[in-house]
Amino acid sequence: MDLELASLTPLERYKLIIGLVVPRPIGWVSTWNENGVANCAPFSFFNAISEDPPLCILSFNFRSDGQVKHTLKNIRRTGEYVVNLVDESTANAMHLSSYEIPETESEFAQTGLTPVPALKVKHPRIGEAAACFECRVERRIEFGPQRELVIGEILLVHAREGIIDPKTKRISEENYRPIGRLFASRYCTTRQRFDLPGEIP
Ligand SMILES: Cc1cc2nc3c(=O)[nH]c(=O)nc-3n(C[C@H](O)[C@H](O)[C@H](O)COP(=O)(O)O)c2cc1C
Repeated sequence: MDLELASLTPLERYKLIIGLVVPRPIGWVSTWNENGVANCAPFSFFNAISEDPPLCILSFNFRSDGQVKHTLKNIRRTGEYVVNLVDESTANAMHLSSYEIPETESEFAQTGLTPVPALKVKHPRIGEAAACFECRVERRIEFGPQRELVIGEILLVHAREGIIDPKTKRISEENYRPIGRLFASRYCTTRQRFDLPGEIP
C-alpha cells in the first residue's frame, strides 16, 4: 500500500504516524502557571536529539478549544520547563494528567502528585517521577498555526536513588522501568530486552 500524505486528512496522517513510530518515549512536562498552579501533561512527540549540546525536543498542537496548551503557554512565558520520564509506577498518573482541565486546576492535585522545586529552573519537577531533565528553551519553531516545536537544552538530570550508577553514570536496567506510548490509550513496558552480537562503539 502506498499512501501520499497530501491526500490524507490530518487525523489519518496522525493515525499512520503514531501507529508506525512505536514505541515513543513520553516527555511528562511540569511547569508552574503565572498564578502558581502546578501543571503537568504528557507529550509523546518527544525525544532526546543530542548530547553535545544536550538537547531534547517536544512538539505541541492546540487544545480541543483551539487554545494554546497550558504547558506551551508556561514554556513561552518563562523559557524553562522540566521533562519528567515515565516509568511503570507513574504510568497511571501520567495518563490521567493528559485530560484537559481548566487552568485554575492542577493535574498534580488531581492525580496525587507532589511538586518538588527544581534546582536550575523555576518550575516544579514531579516528585514521584523516576527521572527528569531540567530544561531551558534553546529554540522554538512554529509550523503553521497548528504546530510548535520546542527544543530544550538539558541543564540538569535528576533521578531517583538507584537509577544512575554514580561512578559509571550507567542507568540500572533493574531499577529503571520506563514505559512507551503506542497509540490512543495503549502503552508498553520495556521488559523484553535482547542483545545482538557484535561490539558497537
Ligand atoms: C501519552 C500521551 C502523549 C501525548 N503527546 C502529545 C504530544 O506529543 N503533543 C501534544 O500536543 N499533545 C500530546 N498529548 C495530549 C496532551 O497531553 C493534552 O493535550 C494535555 O491536556 C495538555 O495539557 P496542558 O494544556 O496542561 O498543557 C498526549 C497525551 C498523551 C496521553
